[in-house]
Amino acid sequence: MAIEAIVFDAYGTLYDVQSLSRITNKEFPRHGELITQVWRLKQLEYTWLRTLMGSYKSFWDISEESLVYTLNAIGQTASPAQIERIMDKYLNLDPYPEAIDALTALKGVPLAILSNGNQDMLDALVQNSGLDKHLDAVISIDKTGKFKPHPDAYGLVESALNVKPENVMFVSSNAFDATAAKDFGFQVSWIERVTPQDLAAEVEAGPVTAPGTMFKILRMQMETFGIEPDNKLKTLLDLKDLK
Ligand code: LAC
Repeated sequence: MAIEAIVFDAYGTLYDVQSLSRITNKEFPRHGELITQVWRLKQLEYTWLRTLMGSYKSFWDISEESLVYTLNAIGQTASPAQIERIMDKYLNLDPYPEAIDALTALKGVPLAILSNGNQDMLDALVQNSGLDKHLDAVISIDKTGKFKPHPDAYGLVESALNVKPENVMFVSSNAFDATAAKDFGFQVSWIERVTPQDLAAEVEAGPVTAPGTMFKILRMQMETFGIEPDNKLKTLLDLKDLK
């Protein structure tokens, strides 16, 4: 099937959400790792809860609410200035080291982001990281008021890019996102950053409850829905071979 556009998830796919740990470790030296992992888990959970409840809030607000939840849950308090400093990192996340090279190698096909982030926070992130020069469109789900994996969120791509779903290659390293995008009708490349073998070795080597290991177990393995991505790739750079 022809590929007429390549559409990327943002957080976890082009941008490393684990880079939040620099600021969480700085603000909460003993708990940075725990905060980073629980915050991300809770943030996505809140997007699903709010979509099911029909009570949309922007991803920025949800990110702040889930950060406050996380801090409360582990008995930490933060000043408004600390919350602001931590949240600001969402506008300055590190792109994955290979992201710019991968986008450059794909030049010629329309390249876009489809993300849960609201438009303002995405635009700032894309600009601050310099990825704006490599992308043709940044599509936020905030136009639908429904977060991925709701089909309405994926449905935005067709009108924004004028491309049929079957001609879209959707790229995500979030397993839930890859599964839902495939179910929606996109071609899908899942960036498998942690193989089951690597994860099994990590579990064997250390305490299963290490927050980062728990995150990999919960969010970085393919869902068992019987829905398989078209491609399993190690890094974004492998996309150029699909063109
Ligand atoms: C996003 C979330 C799923 O960027 O990471 O939409």
